[in-house]
Amino acid sequence: MSHSSRIGFVVFGLGRAGVIHSTNLIRNPQATLKWIVDIDEDKAKKFVTENFMDTQVIAPSDMDKALLDPTVQAAVVATPTEMHEDIVMRCLRAGKAVFCEKPIAPTLQAIEHCYKEADNQHLPLLCAFNRRFDPTVRSVFDRVRKDDIGNIQVVKTTSRDSTPPSEGYIRISGGIFHDSCVHDVDLICWMLGEAPHTVFCLAHAFHAHIGAMNDVDTVGVVMKFPSGAIGQIDMSRHAVYGYDQRVEVFGSGGMLTSDNQSSLCATYFHASGSTQNPIKVSFPQRYSEAYELEMNHFIGVIKHKDNLLISKDDVLRSFTVVEAIEKSFRTGQPVSL
Ligand SMILES: NC(=O)c1ccc[n+]([C@@H]2O[C@H](COP(=O)([O-])OP(=O)(O)OC[C@H]3O[C@@H](n4cnc5c(N)ncnc54)[C@H](O)[C@@H]3O)[C@@H](O)[C@H]2O)c1
Repeated sequence: MSHSSRIGFVVFGLGRAGVIHSTNLIRNPQATLKWIVDIDEDKAKKFVTENFMDTQVIAPSDMDKALLDPTVQAAVVATPTEMHEDIVMRCLRAGKAVFCEKPIAPTLQAIEHCYKEADNQHLPLLCAFNRRFDPTVRSVFDRVRKDDIGNIQVVKTTSRDSTPPSEGYIRISGGIFHDSCVHDVDLICWMLGEAPHTVFCLAHAFHAHIGAMNDVDTVGVVMKFPSGAIGQIDMSRHAVYGYDQRVEVFGSGGMLTSDNQSSLCATYFHASGSTQNPIKVSFPQRYSEAYELEMNHFIGVIKHKDNLLISKDDVLRSFTVVEAIEKSFRTGQPVSL
């Protein structure tokens, strides 16, 4: 592919998510990473030097330099969530397609505001629900859609972080419901193709510092859908054995599972039993392929080769359901939507 047919990118926020997306852009023959915007310019310059790039690094106060660059067609927004709306709006108004980390914004009104601008500008706005792009999860979805297990009765997800995020991150994350549970809600609603009418949630903070932030680290959710299906979410911020990510779909004709993966798929059989390698330990490891595929999808959408997989309605749906789940936890009552 010639250099000129590559999509020029600006990345906002070079933290955990921003490094993943920037690294994928560097490797992607359809993209050129032109600018990185971060408050920590030294960290970003080090990243650029280590990757032998000529990407320009600027502070947020200089972001117009990147937004006025006509060779930049797209932006990745991976700053803390509270800054998303402002950056997304500025990117869209500057004519850039936007790939934004979840959640798009901390309120329903702000999310609607962003999508309204995307519509006005006729530009794509992708909310990065990376799990939808994971090949194993996708294969489960495809079989559900092909009716391979008949009527779906239960969709269950287990999502446990291995090490909890830093205290600083949890403080500004918006809480476990909008930060983490939103992935599971999106996945279950996507599998079923519908939104629940009732949700109920119980949760607890086993980690005192998380409880002190009025947040929780262990969550159980049950949801009832109009089709009759039951959704179940089992979440934790801390699992000593690794990054536990499982999906199970149970139907009248069978069951589909997406299981945990090991870095090494070897088993050691010995006199007292067998030993397996630990499961992957983090989201960058477990979903590395999904992150690459979601970026390819976004580029495909910009090039009019793909239709946006995650719609405005999907994003508003998961936000609304998460609000109801959090309300159920806070009130101790089931919540109807
Ligand atoms: N989809 C996923 O798997 C996934 C995983 C982690 C985080 N996220 C999302 O990504 C976003 C970022 O999370 P993170 O874990 O990478 O956070 P982080 O704290 O690791 O990184 C945030 C980065 O943004 C920079 N920053 C802060 N203010 C800025 C500003 N005004 N302009 C530009 N840069 C600024 C910080 O210096 C830092 O480098 C959040 O919305 C989070 O929900 C998604």
